Order: sequence, then C-alpha cells, then structure tokens
Amino acid sequence: MKHSTHARRAGIARALIPLLLLAGGLAQARPQGDEAAVVESLIGRMTLDEKLGQLNQPPGPDNRTGPEAEAGGLDQVRRGEVGSFLGLHGAARTCQYQHVAVEETRLGIPLLFAGDVIHGFRTVFPQSIGEAATFDPAAVERSARISATEAAAHGLHWTFAPMVDVARDPRWGRISEGSGEDVYLGKALARARVRGFQGGDPGPALEQALRRDDTVLATAKHFVAYGAAEAGRDYNTTDMSERVLREVYLPPFRAAVEAGAGSVMAAFNDLNGVPMHANKSLIEDVLRKQWGFDGILVSDYTGVWELVKHGVAADETDAGVLALEAGVDIDMVSDIYRRKLPGALREGRVTMAQIDEAVRRVLRAKYRLGLFEDPYRYCDVQREAQRTLTPEFRQAAREVARESMVLLKNEGNVLPLSKDKIRTLAVIGPLADLGKAMIGNWAGDGRPDEAVTPLQGLREALGPEVRILHVGGAQIEGDDRSGFDQAVVAAKQADAVVMFLGEHPDMSGEASSRTRLDLPGVQSQLALAVQAVGKPTAVVLLNGRPLTINTLQENLPAILEAWYPGVEGGRAIADVLFGDYNPAGRLPVSFPRTVGQVPLYYDHKNTGRPIRLNANGTEEKYTSRYLDSPNTPLYPFGYGLSYTQFRYSAPKVKHPTLVAGQAQQVEVTVSNIGSRAGDEVVQLYLRDDVASISRPVRQLRGFRRIHLEPGQSRTLTFVLEAEDMAFLDANLKSTVEPGTFTVFAGGSSEAEQEAKFEVSAK
Ligand code: BGC
Repeated sequence: MKHSTHARRAGIARALIPLLLLAGGLAQARPQGDEAAVVESLIGRMTLDEKLGQLNQPPGPDNRTGPEAEAGGLDQVRRGEVGSFLGLHGAARTCQYQHVAVEETRLGIPLLFAGDVIHGFRTVFPQSIGEAATFDPAAVERSARISATEAAAHGLHWTFAPMVDVARDPRWGRISEGSGEDVYLGKALARARVRGFQGGDPGPALEQALRRDDTVLATAKHFVAYGAAEAGRDYNTTDMSERVLREVYLPPFRAAVEAGAGSVMAAFNDLNGVPMHANKSLIEDVLRKQWGFDGILVSDYTGVWELVKHGVAADETDAGVLALEAGVDIDMVSDIYRRKLPGALREGRVTMAQIDEAVRRVLRAKYRLGLFEDPYRYCDVQREAQRTLTPEFRQAAREVARESMVLLKNEGNVLPLSKDKIRTLAVIGPLADLGKAMIGNWAGDGRPDEAVTPLQGLREALGPEVRILHVGGAQIEGDDRSGFDQAVVAAKQADAVVMFLGEHPDMSGEASSRTRLDLPGVQSQLALAVQAVGKPTAVVLLNGRPLTINTLQENLPAILEAWYPGVEGGRAIADVLFGDYNPAGRLPVSFPRTVGQVPLYYDHKNTGRPIRLNANGTEEKYTSRYLDSPNTPLYPFGYGLSYTQFRYSAPKVKHPTLVAGQAQQVEVTVSNIGSRAGDEVVQLYLRDDVASISRPVRQLRGFRRIHLEPGQSRTLTFVLEAEDMAFLDANLKSTVEPGTFTVFAGGSSEAEQEAKFEVSAK
C-alpha cells in the first residue's frame, strides 16, 4: 500500500517535471532553513566526490583568459564534478546548466556562474585606471552597479572584480586594471566598487541586496602584492618588508573585506618566497582571523597547479594539499582538488574537516545569493534583453568617461576647439577609429562594433556640414612612415587637427608587460610631422598605463589623456574636445619621464639626502638624484588641468593642537576664477613631520570632486581621523605620535598651500 502510493506520487512527479522545468520549478526538494541548517545538512549528506565537485571551477565556453584549458561540459555537471564556472554566461545557457545541476544531480546544489566583469559587461565603462582618474567614488560605484545589473541579467552571480592591487610600476600591464599607485584612493574605490557590485553595505542591507536579481558577488583580487612584481614583469616574484606590505599593499584588501566583499582571489606571485596560493599565514591568519573574512577564497586561473612550477610542490597532489592547507577554497581550472585530494585524504595529508570548511564557504555563498531558494532567479531571457546596453546605461558610460579624462597640457588654450570655427577637421592616428581601443582590455562581453569611436563621435558632434579628413598616418607599432605624407597633407587642409595615439589595448592588461614606456612605433614622430604644419593640434592618448611622452609634452600644445574610455568613448571625447564638458580627471598614478625612474610615486620618503641646490642653482652632487633626469615625474599623481582656473585658500585647521587620538578638521576654500563652469578635485595631503619611523613626504588623506560655476567659491571641511594621522611603529602597531603635522591642500599631489598643527601626548 505504502509502496504503491509512493510509486503513484513518483509517477505524478515525473509527469510534472517538464511543467516544473518550464515554470522554472524544482524536482529536488529545496533545502529549507537558515544558512547554517541548509549548509550543514548538505555537508552531512555529501560524498567526498560531491564535496570536491563544489570546490572545482572549470572554464566555461565563454572563457577568454589564461592558457587554453578544456571547458567543463554538461556531463561534468551531471556527474556532480562542478561547483561553479568561470566564463559561462547568457541567461539561456546558464539556465540550461543550472537545470542540470539542480534537477539531475543527487543533491541538486545550484551552480555559481562567475566572470570577469571589471569595468562593464556589455556596456563597457572606462578601463579601471581611467575610472580611478575620475576621483569620484560615486561615479565608480555607479559603473559597478550598472555592470552588476547587466551581468546578473546575463546569468552571472559573481564577478572577479575589483582588482585592488596597488601598482607603482607602469611596466606592469595590469596597472590598467586597478586604481593606480595610491593607497587612500585605492581604498575608497575598492569600497565603491564592492558596494556597486553587491548593492549594499554589510549587514541586513547587503543580505537583502545579494538576493536581488541585479547584484553579483564581488572579488577583491589579487591577494596580495601582485602589483609589486619585480621589474614589472607579470607573474614575477615579489619581495617586500612587512611594513610595506601592511602599509601599502594590504589596506585596499582590508577596505574591500570591510565593505563586505564576498570573495577574495589569491595572486599568482610568490611573496618573500611563499607563493600566495600556499600562503597560509596571510590567508588564514591575516585575512580570515584578523579581518574576519568568511567568504570564498578562490584560486587564480591554474594558480593551484602553478605551485608545482613555483617549485614548492613536488607534484599535483602536493600542490592541492598546500593550497587547501593555506585556505584556498575553490580551485579554478587546475582540477587538482577533484582529482588529487581523495588520495591525499586517504594518506592523511588533508582532513575531511579541511575539505568541509572549504565546501561550507562555497555553499554559504550560494545560500547568501539566495540560490537555494530560487536557483533560476538569473534565468530571465526577457530581462536579459531589457537590461543590455540600454540608453541609460550608455548615458552613464558617457558621463563616467568624460569624468575620467585628464587634460595634461593645454598651451595657448588650443582646447576646447570651437565647433563654429571649424570647417575642416583632420583626424589623424592609428587609434582614431578603433572600437577595440574604446572598450580596452578585460572588456567583459563588450563588442568593439558597439563602441562609438572618436571618429564617429567627432562626426556626430560636428554634423554633416563639417569636412573630416581621416588619416591613420602610422600603425600603432612598427616603423612604417609611409603614411606620414598623407597625414601632413590632411593637416594642411584642416582648420584644426586631433590626433589619436597610444597603445593597442592588448599592450596592457594581463601578460602585457613592457620594458619601454614610450609611445610605441613611430607615433611620436608622426605627431611631430603633423605638428610642424602649424595648425592648432591636440593629441588624445588612448592607453592603459603611464607613458613617457616627453616628446609630446615638449612639442605639442594640447594633450588629453583619455585612457580606454568605454563604449561611449568617442562621444565623451568629443564632449571634452569641444568644451561641452570641462575635463577634471586627475592622474591616479605618476607619469615618469623615463622608465629608469620606475618605481615612481608621490608618497616616497625624504631620504637623508634629498635634492639640495648649490648657491649657483645647480643640484648638489651628493644627493639622492640622477645625473640624466630630474627626480620629478613628467606629470605627478593627482594632476590634471581644466578649461577654467581654480584658486585655493590656505587650509585652516580647527585645532592648532590636539591630543593624540582626536580628530582634526580642515577647511579649504576653493574658487573658480576662470570663465567656465567646471569640476575641481580638491585634494588634502598630510605629513607627519617627525616620527619614530621615517614617513612619506606627504600622503593623500582626503579628496572631493566638486562643481563650481565661474566666480563661485566653496569651503569644504575635511575630517582627519586619528587613523589618518597614524602609522605603524617599530613593532608594526598602529600609533599616533605627538609632534607637528603639515596639511597641504590643492589640486594635485604638488599642492603648496599648507597649514600646521600639533599633536600632544595623551
Ligand atoms: C587573472 C584573473 C582573472 C582570471 C579569470 C586570470 O588569468 O589573473 O584576474 O580573474 O584569470 O579570468
């Protein structure tokens, strides 16, 4: 009797399955209860293979990174060998895979779909370094918010962003993926991006946000010190003091974790001899124990396997053991955990408790994303279409792009160009009409042909009456000058010239280190040849790293740094060139004069022999200097011009003296003394004048991007918290020492207006 009822029910259920599938329903009973109940009951029922399956992340068919690897297929999912995918998107496709995971595996655990949504998905925003140049966390958060909305509509639950690696070496191509050289700016943008992707701040707001259909889990990467690769060569060794690690490279990770980042990715590099995928003390002790991070630690692409290449693991089993021991939960692409940990477990080299702990973190993330409640939340094909490259998204991309552009030089006010006065415009250079140079590297699912190129943007802005002469003039690389003449002829016929020069986007990003930072090929020579014609000429740079553009600086009147500005880049460039938008982006990284100065950053130490001038004005020989170059950068951190001018009052401190541990307030008055409205990035720097440990000459401690009409003034109040005055003492303990501090306020890291205050002992 009992049996037949069961059989009948099973028969009905079988008949219902197609209907349930259509309705997005479940054949498996959905696990019920709170996070711990769901997660623990699953772990209690899982076989070892099922557990290791959860830790396995193969590449999917849309994956475009790393050395070739076989994509995971539906059969692998069916066998329970996959917990998440890298590079598999699209509402229809992810749902097809999700159905198999949920309906056809024994426990019906949903999959996670991850991807690199770095600066946009289909609506591509400026390259991250360009976003950093906005100095506008709200704009950066908005970009991440839209990217998450779009990516989630395409089935993704999880992005491998933000990259929060501090980078001070422009030879390293991945400098384009982060927020530049500064810790303070890096922290602010790490928080902004995490909040943008995940949709809320830690606590109930984040819990709810993660269950919405427009958020993705964020990943702070690459933990840690990846940006300090020796000689700027990607994947290379890093070696640094505990102090530098704690003062410079760790803080943006901590900021991301405090903002609630759901995951952290291990870095490819070894740090002081210990590869990060085997670095237990940093992952377990610092990240998890000290900072309380309870999310997923994901390996980088084949990072587990690379432990063999690093020479710390004898074979794959060794590598799997080391990584699991260190606290790496998910094995991306190596497929070592799944294949090798069963043997290691049998031999007693890992414990079931260790495996369970990693599985727990993965299941917890799935729970937090609400996937046990509704694994098909991201499976809406209609929503996918509605939330792709919408006019609002495009408009946002254009706005962020305009904000990201940095006016490096504008002699004789060549810019803005006047639309009314131009009858013929020469548009010259190898990057003038390249869609790929708009979307940059790590462009998600962005399509070059959906991007508005500069040529298109200028045409649209000028209308059909104005003649545009478009000449490539040179290739990005190589020494072919055969196009120079045609470029010169075009310039002669034009009222003004705009040149688009720079790097191909594949020249920065991963595995794209360079030993030279000059404009590649013969582009500088092309610029000189065109400039010699004598027409008003502006250069727009499209590049992902600081370049040593001394030739341009010395010879061309106007230079605009546009980075890779995204899908609306061409329009945003036109907005800036014609003055419909007044540029105010600032450099998030110093531009060196020569690669020999690298690493070059504004918050360096004074040294015992800073440069000193002799009576005759020359530099004293026995000082910390070069014989063949000034120490200073070509353009400093925080630098950028405007079409208007700003004047700063000296900063005013509220407390001429305060007790260590107290906060300070600093008032800065800024006035727009030019004739155009515009934004200004007001920056506040602080120096601890005398301390028990030698301190940087100054450090960014506040910034705000504000808008001022001509003639308008505003007084801003910056709060300096105790933490802003603190540093790590000889025992690496955070401390505020008594003594004087100097505050500098202005529009770049060379800000000169200053005030002093005194901190007394408690
Ligand atoms: C990169 C990561 C990226 C991963 C997956 C790796 O090569 O280092 O930043 O998230 O690939 O695409």
